[in-house]
Amino acid sequence: MSTSLHAQHTNPRTPPPGPKRVLNEGEDGLFTQSWFPICLSSDVPPETVKGYDFLDGRVVVYRGADGRVQVASAYCPHMGASLEVGKMIGDSLRCAFHHWEYNLDGVCTKTMVGDPPPPNACLFVFPTQERYGLVWAFNGDAPLYDLPSFPFPEDELAFKTIELPGLSGVDPWVQCCNTPDMQHIKALHGITFGQADPHDLVRWTDHSCCYDFVGTHVNGEHVENSIGVYGTSLYYQSTYINGKWFGFLVPMGLPRPGKSKNFMVAAGKISDGTPDEVAAWLDFVLDFEIRVVGEDLPIMETMRFRPGTLTQSDKTFARYLSFLRQYPRAHPSADFIK
Ligand code: FES
Ligand SMILES: [Fe+2]
Repeated sequence: MSTSLHAQHTNPRTPPPGPKRVLNEGEDGLFTQSWFPICLSSDVPPETVKGYDFLDGRVVVYRGADGRVQVASAYCPHMGASLEVGKMIGDSLRCAFHHWEYNLDGVCTKTMVGDPPPPNACLFVFPTQERYGLVWAFNGDAPLYDLPSFPFPEDELAFKTIELPGLSGVDPWVQCCNTPDMQHIKALHGITFGQADPHDLVRWTDHSCCYDFVGTHVNGEHVENSIGVYGTSLYYQSTYINGKWFGFLVPMGLPRPGKSKNFMVAAGKISDGTPDEVAAWLDFVLDFEIRVVGEDLPIMETMRFRPGTLTQSDKTFARYLSFLRQYPRAHPSADFIK
């Protein structure tokens, strides 16, 4: 009988129950209702159309001669040709197959042979906006919230927006979980908080979670950060580093379940220098943040996201999980984009 002592030190074999799971994107046929970036604005000049994967389907982004841009379902209601191989004629998107034309509201306005367009020959048009150098589509019939602004008027800021190569192997909301995860900010990114964890100062809405902290970065820079996540698809940061301001965003697209298409936006104040100095500052911001995000990526790529044994320091992260479990889900474009 020599087993009991040893058995006391054996790890329990039952995994911890953990908080109730958050549904993956597309798992129930639905997706979270957020503003998702589709492409860089510069990818779609006036009078062009491009096709992109979105919500496990296909959409087109088309821009009229007047500059207005629209995200819509890709497949022509006539016989299903993808409009991404069509052509813009002024403000109309012309299908390559039989030359039916769609206006920027997604309505078929004419057929090439002169038959009247069937009244239901319409594309699904997503609520669309162009901001921070990106074209965004909202997964829903109407937006539930707006994108955040930086603390300075936009015409006083310079921006640099880039698309990261490849796709990240997790849903955008899993990446968003990094922001309320205060433990990882200290452990993985090596940032020292100059205060107690601000769990009780987090500002919550139905569509965002934001908080401020002061700290010291790994190379000794003093940082005053205001950070947050909006919806399930956008990391927001407004930072003074050694007294100088920058803004930073990571907009995360959702081409298909389990994948994120990541962009980065750096913002700086135009008044902070000559155009060359401001451009150099934006490059510094992107380099600085690519290093930070580079610390997250190998973990995002290889993990099986499974919150289990959380502790007191995970308080805000745990609340974000419950925010996600209540987050609105829908897929109104399902019949159009597949
Ligand atoms: S399939 Fe588009 S016009 Fe016929
Ligand atoms: Fe991180």
